Amino acid sequence: MNSVAIYPGSFDPITLGHQSVIERGADVFSKLHVVIVHNPNKTPLFSIAERLEMVKLSTQHLGNVEVSALESGLLVEHAKSLGAKVILKGFRTAGDIEYELPMAQVNRDLANLETVFMAAEPSHGYVSSSLVKEVAN
Ligand code: PNS
Repeated sequence: MNSVAIYPGSFDPITLGHQSVIERGADVFSKLHVVIVHNPNKTPLFSIAERLEMVKLSTQHLGNVEVSALESGLLVEHAKSLGAKVILKGFRTAGDIEYELPMAQVNRDLANLETVFMAAEPSHGYVSSSLVKEVAN
């Protein structure tokens, strides 16, 4: 498939769950842009620069994956500037879909961008950035 997708998120920090979605997404799309996005509803532990470094290190083995950051503005504008027509999102539970659904709908309303959901691997079902931080703490 000749297609460009964007995989946005806070990645604070990137987890094995994110990495699995990136690797599988890189198999499905011809180009995958992982975008570290500032989420004003969350107080991050890691700076954007630290997260960029972590995501780049975790994806350096994938030739068709690029990593960038979006510190302000709308995701749809960034997607447009990268030539992406699809937003890739992973989900673990119905709760994730409930959280993601309005974002998918607004992004489609704003710019006709489709969101494609990829189910988490069962072994990553409970892995989240917040849980990783709590355990590390
Ligand atoms: O990993 P997260 O924090 O759940 O990701 C949510 C994120 C950052 C992708 C979302 O909040 C987002 O896209 N923010 C950018 C601003 C924007 O475009 N908002 C309108 C559509 S959600």
